[in-house]
Amino acid sequence: MNYRLDKVYSSDIVTSDKAHVWHHLSQHKPYESSDPMVMVEGKGLRVTDINGREYLDAVSGGVWTVNVGYGRETIARAVHDQLLKMCYFAGSHGSIPGARFAEKLIEKMPGMSRVYYSNSGSEANEKGYKMVRQLAHTKHNGQKYKIIYRDRDYHGTTITALSSCGQEERKEQYGPFTPGFVEMPHCSIYRSPYDDNTNFGEQAARELEKVILQEDPDTVGSLILEPITAGGGVIPAPEGYFETIQEICKKYGLLLHMDEVVCGMGRTGKWFGYQHYGVKPDIVTMAKGVASGYAAISVTVTTEELFDGFKSDPSDPMSYFRDISTFGGCAAGPAAALENMRIIEEENLLDNVNTMGDYLVDRLRELQDRHALIGDVRGKGLFVGAELVKDRQTKEPVEEGVVMKIAAECLKQGVIIGRTNRSFHKLNNTICLSPALICTKDDIDEIVNAIDNAMTNIG
Ligand SMILES: Cc1ncc(COP(=O)(O)O)c(C=O)c1O
Repeated sequence: MNYRLDKVYSSDIVTSDKAHVWHHLSQHKPYESSDPMVMVEGKGLRVTDINGREYLDAVSGGVWTVNVGYGRETIARAVHDQLLKMCYFAGSHGSIPGARFAEKLIEKMPGMSRVYYSNSGSEANEKGYKMVRQLAHTKHNGQKYKIIYRDRDYHGTTITALSSCGQEERKEQYGPFTPGFVEMPHCSIYRSPYDDNTNFGEQAARELEKVILQEDPDTVGSLILEPITAGGGVIPAPEGYFETIQEICKKYGLLLHMDEVVCGMGRTGKWFGYQHYGVKPDIVTMAKGVASGYAAISVTVTTEELFDGFKSDPSDPMSYFRDISTFGGCAAGPAAALENMRIIEEENLLDNVNTMGDYLVDRLRELQDRHALIGDVRGKGLFVGAELVKDRQTKEPVEEGVVMKIAAECLKQGVIIGRTNRSFHKLNNTICLSPALICTKDDIDEIVNAIDNAMTNIG
């Protein structure tokens, strides 16, 4: 049935949705007098809603996920074939796609060795936290249990993932939180707290050492960082930052956990964001782009050395990683992920990300010359942000309402853009762009022109 053309059917769906679906991150009061968008089709970067209206999606499924674009028949077929053959068995056993994807993934991650499957970014991060906590018990007499996270970073939605969240508005009303999580300062040079920024990267990283010393190094087990802060405002690490972070982690025996849930699988122009910075992590987590949203899959990847810490006397019931994720055993995830990786390689998408990413930044900088509202443009690859301010001198952020208006004006023109969303009390002021890795110059022009018009229209 072509449900886009069938008005009765469409209004039926909207009625059911309004009556029963509780949408993510949404205040439902406005839906008493308006309808939510219902998405029905996608091809490439374009999505179509239930009213037949087409949009260019500049955020890969709203939240940086559909990296290889919509409507990929080969991924759908890989999932279909795998589900018919063997849909599921608990992850305490192996699967053919699970083994093959793990091998292929590790080829792209020199120094890493083991792949633990689950099904969301939050869960993948929690696996990392559980590993750190268990190692604290088995190797450090219950010490080294604290986990440091960074202001402005986000690591997931569960209570413990939120305990490691550097976004105050996102956390509000969900406490009390899990103990043992400690915050360190952000690394946004645009909002540097220092008078002299000559060595900003190193200075910002040295804040880690202050926190470790304040907490007592014997109690701190790991540091979790996004390679590029995503929902917190698209903040790439400044020069010299990660070198110093790595040195401090080594000095105080901290495991380094890189959260690649957004940056992973090519979004920034390398397979993984941390690979831009020469970092050697102990734990790497990823989710969104792993299978581009064609199946739910996340992974926690570790070094062999960390894994070895859980391999000892089989008669000791407490010595191994006593964790399970029911849907981490779904074979559709790794089957989709394998095909997703094949597409990225075969279509040379990393090259496209680098070329188109540079073009996107150039186009936004042109816009910055014409709109005083744009205080800063930054990013890596096809992961770019434009921070909006009331005044370039004072850098006072615009109200969230301004960014919402710009997004609404873009939507009117058929372009879906992203933005920092109810994360901070004051800093919900960044436009976030992350089109699919297949995007073209024409797509980027369409996105940037829509933003240009939107900024003009709102005055
Ligand atoms: C950096 C980062 N880590 C973790 C998560 C949580 O992932 P999920 O929503 O799949 O639990 C997100 C989600 O936006 C994220 O941006």
